[in-house]
Amino acid sequence: MNNETLLKMAYEVAEKAYAPYSKFKVGAALLTEEGKVFTGCNVECASFGGTNCAERTAVFKAISEGYHKYTAIAVVSAGESFTYPCGICRQVLNEFAPDIDIILDDHGTVKVINLKEMLPYSFGPSDLG
Ligand code: THU
Repeated sequence: MNNETLLKMAYEVAEKAYAPYSKFKVGAALLTEEGKVFTGCNVECASFGGTNCAERTAVFKAISEGYHKYTAIAVVSAGESFTYPCGICRQVLNEFAPDIDIILDDHGTVKVINLKEMLPYSFGPSDLG
């Protein structure tokens, strides 16, 4: 599975986003170690705190299907520039895949950033012993 294919899948699922409040549609495509892809979009809520980001939708879909190990996640939107995962999503990704590559796109310019760079000095499962 190459970066371009993952990005394409992320752009496709972004169209399914439920974002009537922000109008900011986000898509994510999460690649498991086994080579399976789980996509996700953001789902907003009139009670704003209930909103779920695209990245977490993809992770939660994967977990609920029994897939816990991931190597890469593509994240895109129709926004102006790269769409960086929010702090909560970085923490959730760190829970399962502290070494995951995050693939971003800005109108054809692709950037790959490892989660360790995006979330240094993180707190994770191993800290709880
Ligand atoms: N959002 C995501 O889904 N992922 C990100 O990486 C950034 C933010 C969503 C949450 C909310 O529905 C909308 O984008 C605006 O913040």
